[in-house]
Amino acid sequence: MAELGFEVLGLDIDPAKIEALTRGELPFHEPGLPELLLKHVQSGRLRFTTSYEEVGAWADVHFIGVGTPQKPGETAADLRFVDAAVTSLAEHITQDALIVGKSTVPVGTAARLRDLLAETRATAGLDGTVELAWNPEFLREGYAVKDTLTPDRLVVGVESAHAEGLLRQVYAKSLTEGTPWIATDFATAELVKVAANAFLATKISFINAFSEITETVGGDIGTLADAIGHDPRIGRRFLNAGAGFGGGCLPKDIRALQARVSELGLDRTMRFLAEMDDINLRRRDRVVDLAVQVLSHHRDGIARSAGDTASPVPSPATVEVLNGTKVALLGVTFKPHSDDVRDSPALDVANRLFTAGADVAVYDPQGNANAARRFPRLGYVDSLEKALVGADLIILLTEWDEFRQMDPEYVGRLVDQKLLIDGRNVLAPRPWQDAGFTHAALGHRFSPAQSATEGS
Ligand code: UDX
Repeated sequence: MAELGFEVLGLDIDPAKIEALTRGELPFHEPGLPELLLKHVQSGRLRFTTSYEEVGAWADVHFIGVGTPQKPGETAADLRFVDAAVTSLAEHITQDALIVGKSTVPVGTAARLRDLLAETRATAGLDGTVELAWNPEFLREGYAVKDTLTPDRLVVGVESAHAEGLLRQVYAKSLTEGTPWIATDFATAELVKVAANAFLATKISFINAFSEITETVGGDIGTLADAIGHDPRIGRRFLNAGAGFGGGCLPKDIRALQARVSELGLDRTMRFLAEMDDINLRRRDRVVDLAVQVLSHHRDGIARSAGDTASPVPSPATVEVLNGTKVALLGVTFKPHSDDVRDSPALDVANRLFTAGADVAVYDPQGNANAARRFPRLGYVDSLEKALVGADLIILLTEWDEFRQMDPEYVGRLVDQKLLIDGRNVLAPRPWQDAGFTHAALGHRFSPAQSATEGS
């Protein structure tokens, strides 16, 4: 917003965060954002506070961007942070203003908050017209700056021409650049966001379901995705087969949507999303199973199955093969260009291998610190080389460029056993096989006869 020319005051209830931001320090990794933060802290257009009194007396438009995480032990979204933000603003705004929700919320939330806002202000006897609008956020982590400054669409849920007019002023630059503008009601705006995320999750799980077929009968999942992706009605994006989706949005949003439609008495409507979630979680089982197959084949020429990999307790076969095995685990964030490990498939797999007795050396260019806070007992190393030295098995689970660019010959000189699992389908098999590696990948049948270990 400061980059777009506005005067901005950022509020958080955590004083440590506010102090760091005031110094120009970002509490997470997001390419391009540290530079913008510093630029506008220095220009004076961007300031920070912990005071609702200050923002309430100052701003014309209040954006709410607090989290709506999954409730512990449930699938529904936890709305207490959004509710607290709206209540606090309602109590402190002293002039005409617009509150704009950006958080992802279950349908019906904005209407409830509009009433909460009106009641809170009436009870407190406050003057001024304070309206609510809902403006879902579609930015991707890792591309947040670009997605914010040049969004592919703007969706606003509004209940008056005045609210829409204010938001048109806020987004004037994007509108002159031709960004599609969709002004609609609250329910539609809320649903656009969850529909988009449900569709994306479905696309990923759709190709990963086909992975289960190609892993069984053979075939190339990448070629399959390319071929169907040429159909413009389908499109190639979000058809990358691999360890599946994670992060702070897709997993919890599809669960919250199912919880919400159940509340509405529509239990069957989104039942397919439970299936998408299952397919997605089975990808993690598959990585463990493949590790057992690759290692057991290398050890005694028979690719053994891990048995039940879905259970939180590792199967005896898994423990038998993995115990004491040194695994170089490459990538622990839910995707590259982020330090976010929330619901990360890579971190889940790392923990499962560790639980089965493997000696896991985790390396991620940005995610180690966040991962170590969640799973302090895993082994973390601060370079790719350190992870690879002496490894019995390499597993790539987040497709950072540093991993895509690895030289198979060089890697082969560092490891103890030339065994590789590509959990994101980003390493061309041939150069690795030529360097003597057994190359296995998600979405591909493990066929050791074709690999360099043939006859070993
Ligand atoms: C997502 C939505 O894309 C964004 O619009 C919304 O605002 C927030 O949620 P984000 O969580 O940043 O954004 O990640 P995204 O790029 O969508 O990737 C989600 C997950 O899917 C990652 O774990 C990624 O590795 C995985 N993925 C993505 C695949 O497994 N295959 C693909 O083809 C694409």
